[in-house]
Amino acid sequence: MAKKSVKDVDVRDKRVLVRVDFNVPLSNGKVSDDSRIRAALPTINYLLDQEAKVILVSHLGRPTAENRDSLRMAPVGERLSKLLGRPVTTLSEVVGDSVTEAVDKMKAGDLLLLENSRFESGEKKNDPTLAKRLAALADVYVNDAFGSAHRAHATTAGIVEQSDIPAVSGFLMQKELDALGEALSNPDRPFVAIQGGAKISDKVGVLDRLLTLADHVLIGGGMANTFFKAQGYDVADSLVEDEALPEAERLLASAGDKLVLPIDVVVADDFSNEAQRRTMAAGDIPAGWRILDIGPHTVEAYQSILADAKTVLWNGPMGVFEMSNFAKGTFAIAETLAELDATTVVGGGDSAAAVADAGLTDDLTHVSTGGGASMEFLEGKTLPGVAALDDA
Ligand code: 3PG
Repeated sequence: MAKKSVKDVDVRDKRVLVRVDFNVPLSNGKVSDDSRIRAALPTINYLLDQEAKVILVSHLGRPTAENRDSLRMAPVGERLSKLLGRPVTTLSEVVGDSVTEAVDKMKAGDLLLLENSRFESGEKKNDPTLAKRLAALADVYVNDAFGSAHRAHATTAGIVEQSDIPAVSGFLMQKELDALGEALSNPDRPFVAIQGGAKISDKVGVLDRLLTLADHVLIGGGMANTFFKAQGYDVADSLVEDEALPEAERLLASAGDKLVLPIDVVVADDFSNEAQRRTMAAGDIPAGWRILDIGPHTVEAYQSILADAKTVLWNGPMGVFEMSNFAKGTFAIAETLAELDATTVVGGGDSAAAVADAGLTDDLTHVSTGGGASMEFLEGKTLPGVAALDDA
């Protein structure tokens, strides 16, 4: 069901609470990757142009008593201020007197950023009292946090459940739902899915769905090892999910030749970038060695399947791309996708980070800002943050 968008409501001079996903990586107290902040700018700029009073709220990390001070929103506010070229007031509370006072003083075109929503224990519990206090700050609620839409928290779902204010999607939310939805529901064919990452168990639902929808499903990353073991190969010291072997066997038996496994691999004698390495045919791995990347023949084989593709959906790296000696497979796939004359969609998380590292984000059709959220969407699950919004 399509959802109302920020363009469907009158926001002029209204207090608009925008749930953004500013859960960004920090390093030495500074934002080290601002992709998620930049992705929310179209909605923020639109609301400011419309002379709304814009109140932004997001979670940041997973606060505990120990790390709480390192997860304040202030560095995010600083980066946002640089990107917008205007001052951003970052408050040190999520709700409370300082917030109510600041909101009461807002004028049309003002912008506030609230403190980390997870500093409130009611956020993750979707506590109705917190949700009502948040809703009381606003006349309109906008959810632009696709990356958090799989969470039923006070800022993503409760605020809508506990109030009557209009609840609409922002431009990023809409773009994500359109791009991922279109790839699944109406793909130009051939439709090739590439699935990597460490674990099969995280992706059984996605693999099942893609095996029904796609023409080919190419496998890489640690999950390939579990498939190899299910085929009876010795994978030596490679990462394997023994508990997922029955699922791997089931998938192999039901998928036929739609499921394509690597034909060669890069193995190492230690989990380290400095380890000795060899390229060998996929099969029995010598004792003491482990698989850390797909090999060059696999890259070629995948490139020849991808050459004809009209839609490609990629999720999960092909190897340990954080180590330069085991990043070749992942980067080769990113470069191949960037050159295709096809709709190319990348799920968020590690594969988005790999595409960004390769400097190719702008060469693909859509790179999602949602890791867990895009996985759940691809699996066909209802995202609570989307379900809560007003129907169009
Ligand atoms: C993410 O990075 O996937 C989202 O921001 C959600 O974060 P969470 O997994 O801590 O809920």
